[in-house]
Amino acid sequence: MIPFLDLKKINEPYETAFQEKLKLVLDNGWYILGKEVETFEKAFAKYCQAQYCIGTGNGFDALVLIFKGYIQIGKLQKGDEVIVPANTYIASILAILQADLIPVLVEPKLETYNINPDLIQEKITSKTKAILAVHLYGQLAEMDKINQIAIEHDLIVVEDAAQAHGAFGNSNNFIPKLRDQMPNAGDSHGNNLQSTIYNLKSATAYSFYPGKNLGCLGDGGAITTNDPELAKVLFSLRNYGSEKKYYNEYIGLNSRLDELQAAFLNAKLPNLDADNDKRRAIAKRYLAEIKNDKIILPYWDLSGNHVFHLFVIRTSNREDLQHYLSQNNIQTVIHYPVPPHQQKALKDWNTLSFPITEQIHNEVLSLPISPVLTDEEVSFVIEILNQY
Ligand SMILES: Cc1ncc(COP(=O)(O)O)c(C=O)c1O
Repeated sequence: MIPFLDLKKINEPYETAFQEKLKLVLDNGWYILGKEVETFEKAFAKYCQAQYCIGTGNGFDALVLIFKGYIQIGKLQKGDEVIVPANTYIASILAILQADLIPVLVEPKLETYNINPDLIQEKITSKTKAILAVHLYGQLAEMDKINQIAIEHDLIVVEDAAQAHGAFGNSNNFIPKLRDQMPNAGDSHGNNLQSTIYNLKSATAYSFYPGKNLGCLGDGGAITTNDPELAKVLFSLRNYGSEKKYYNEYIGLNSRLDELQAAFLNAKLPNLDADNDKRRAIAKRYLAEIKNDKIILPYWDLSGNHVFHLFVIRTSNREDLQHYLSQNNIQTVIHYPVPPHQQKALKDWNTLSFPITEQIHNEVLSLPISPVLTDEEVSFVIEILNQY
């Protein structure tokens, strides 16, 4: 069986490093917000070319904290509207609700699965104060267009990069202007700058859930930002709203990145770019070699802005294809079977219609893709798909 995602195999090479990290944490005897979290926050900020990184308990809390942080510093107010793609993992939408803000759903493009920037404008009202851009499946949303709209309407742009660690934006018209304002922005990734830098005063949420491109051995998350005022509040908000023990400035959460998980992430972060390259190499093969009229391959413009957290195809008879692949020992997963607006949890929205989102949810199927998938396994998946 070719598993959809072999987490054991992914983490096997780190076994010794993990054991050393565990010993280090045991020796330190400091288990919450210790040296490993501090080291990781510094390293991940550098990796993302952001000025601040705030470790959190998970990716969902990272999003919630960003919105609560903006409310705390007076840049958002309860009841403000936030534009968000209708086609996303439900966490993006729940985070907006959790912060007492109102999600306003916008259809995606069928080709990219990401929010269609051309449809944002018509959803903007006097209450719209932010856009949550989701880089779904690892592909950057169209940040140049989104930022343009945000600048025109004075909106905050928050990014959900839970599935897109290391996806860097291409240079566009915004970069030269914004870069001048940010002397510390590095350029360690060639000419590409991370999308967060497009919007200097904004924030990005990451998840380190085990299956993510950078995953730990439990839950974990982080926020990156270049906004010192927001960062200061977030460091406190994730820790009961307290900077000094037992003195609370804000109504905060307990959502700290765990010290042990940070230690494991410190061992894995140096390989993230190489892992993403492996994912892209597999994606290139799938795109070039899968030839079957019944299968629609994902769009990729071959630039660096896709880290292929998932390789998501579309097909009109998904059940049949998934069954066929399973019969041939290839495990696949559906991301996701039910669109957020049709979930029971959001019953007020169940009568709404988002045809493109619904079509995507009816047709998508994720093929195995990961840094540990072998060439032979990739060839086998391609061969079986071409015989379908
Ligand atoms: C797009 C998106 N946003 C947010 C999250 C939430 O991350 P976590 O599971 O770490 O809370 C996820 C994770 O599954 C996700 O895929």
